[in-house]
Parts: sequence; C-alpha cells; structure tokens
Amino acid sequence: MIRLFHISDLHFGLEDRRALDWVAGLVRDEAPDGVIITGDLTMRARSREFAAAARWIGALDAPVRIDPGNHDLPYFNPVERFIDPYRRFRALEATVTRPLLLDGLAMDALAIVRLPTTAAAQWRLNWSRGTVGTAALAHALAQIDALPPGLPVLVTCHHPLVEVGTQGRALTHGGNRALAALAQRGVLGVLSGHVHDAFDMVNPTASGPVRMIGAGTLSQRLRTTPPTFNQLTFDQGQLTVCARQLEGVPAEAFGRYH
Ligand SMILES: [Fe+2]
Ligand SMILES: [Fe+2]
Repeated sequence: MIRLFHISDLHFGLEDRRALDWVAGLVRDEAPDGVIITGDLTMRARSREFAAAARWIGALDAPVRIDPGNHDLPYFNPVERFIDPYRRFRALEATVTRPLLLDGLAMDALAIVRLPTTAAAQWRLNWSRGTVGTAALAHALAQIDALPPGLPVLVTCHHPLVEVGTQGRALTHGGNRALAALAQRGVLGVLSGHVHDAFDMVNPTASGPVRMIGAGTLSQRLRTTPPTFNQLTFDQGQLTVCARQLEGVPAEAFGRYH
C-alpha cells in the first residue's frame, strides 16, 4: 500500500499558517510515503516567499516532489521571466526534493510523471491560465511509454487540463488533447491544483475516460471550501482519494479573494 499526501497552492506570502501547521503535524504523525505539491508555492515568486516555502517543505519528514505553478514564475522581473523563468523554482526544487522519484519516475509500484502547464508568456492577456506545449506533452508521453507495461502512472500538473466545475477556472490551452492522450495510455489519475477547491472526477475524452484529481489550497486564497489537501491511497490496483479539510474556518472567510 502506498499513501501519498497531495497538497497544492500554498502561496507563501499569503499562506494560511494554521493550515500549514496542521498538514505538517499530519505528515509527522501519519508518515505518508510521499508528499506531492502541485504548484503555486508562492504568491509572487519573491525570493523571501521561496525561502519561506523552502523552510516549510524542507522541514517535512517525508519524501517530497514539487511542480511549479503560474505564481512561481517571476512577477516583478520581466527579464528573468523571459530568460530563465524557472530559476527560482529549480533552486527550491534542488533544496527540498527527496527521493520519491528517480529521473522523474517514482517508486516501485507507481510511477509519477510531470506534465508542465505553466508558461512564461502566452498569446493571450491572462498568463495565469494553463497551457500544454507540444514538446512538454511529447516529453511526458515518452516518459510514460518508456515505463514497464502495466505500471500505474500518476501525472502531475498545476492546472486542471479541462474545466472541472469549480468556481476557479483553468482554461488550459491544449488540455483536451493532452487529456485524451493520457486517457489513451490508461493513466491512473491526473493530479492538479490551481482552482483552490478539491475534486475527484472521471472525465470523458475522445480516447476514453480519465480520472482527474485536484487538491485545494493551504493559503488564505479560499474559494468555496476551507483549506484542504488530498490523501491518496493506492492499494491492490485501486486508488482512493480523500479530501481532508481543516475544520473551524468561519464561513465568511470563503470567497474573500475572488
Ligand atoms: Fe493558486
Ligand atoms: Fe495557479
């Protein structure tokens, strides 16, 4: 049995300290096999926000892997955004990643493959939205195709690949095509964040159904639910998802920021 905590959208700079303490305590007490963080580690990709993220993630007593979110690309520095947009993220990744994965693939009974959905620039006004580049998709599919046949695969990305009915939207460019390609390969699930509400659903595609799993947020940028994260249990070929919710958050807190 493999037990993973899937957390997302910590947004250091506008983090929810109580939610972070809660999750860190659960990691300590329940010792999951790994922690997967699907992006938006910071609010504005400031150095001090990355430093705070590094302190919190680095103190978790579990293997960790992280993906970048749209908030993790330099916001105030356009030169860096275009020349080396992932520099700060990579520095953090090098600091906090602990071997849940080997060359992008993971563990004995389960593989984890990243599909990037963030872009330094896009031909549309809102750069926060997701996009799946042709090369990025090809790279992820090649990783999946190189795995031993039958090995279950979880794909991680920041933006949901298609809309999932949450208040927040992803509007991921190229998402339908990517999701169909992943369905064709029979992946176990596609993990994401970004919309700040949890979900677990089976989505139809031209190539068959595929499971999409979203983790909520551990920040103050709440949408419709208190801070949550997903507990994933993989046992005898079955993946079970449980959204665990921080209790005691007043209802008027919801929807504050959007
Ligand atoms: Fe976010
Ligand atoms: Fe995001």
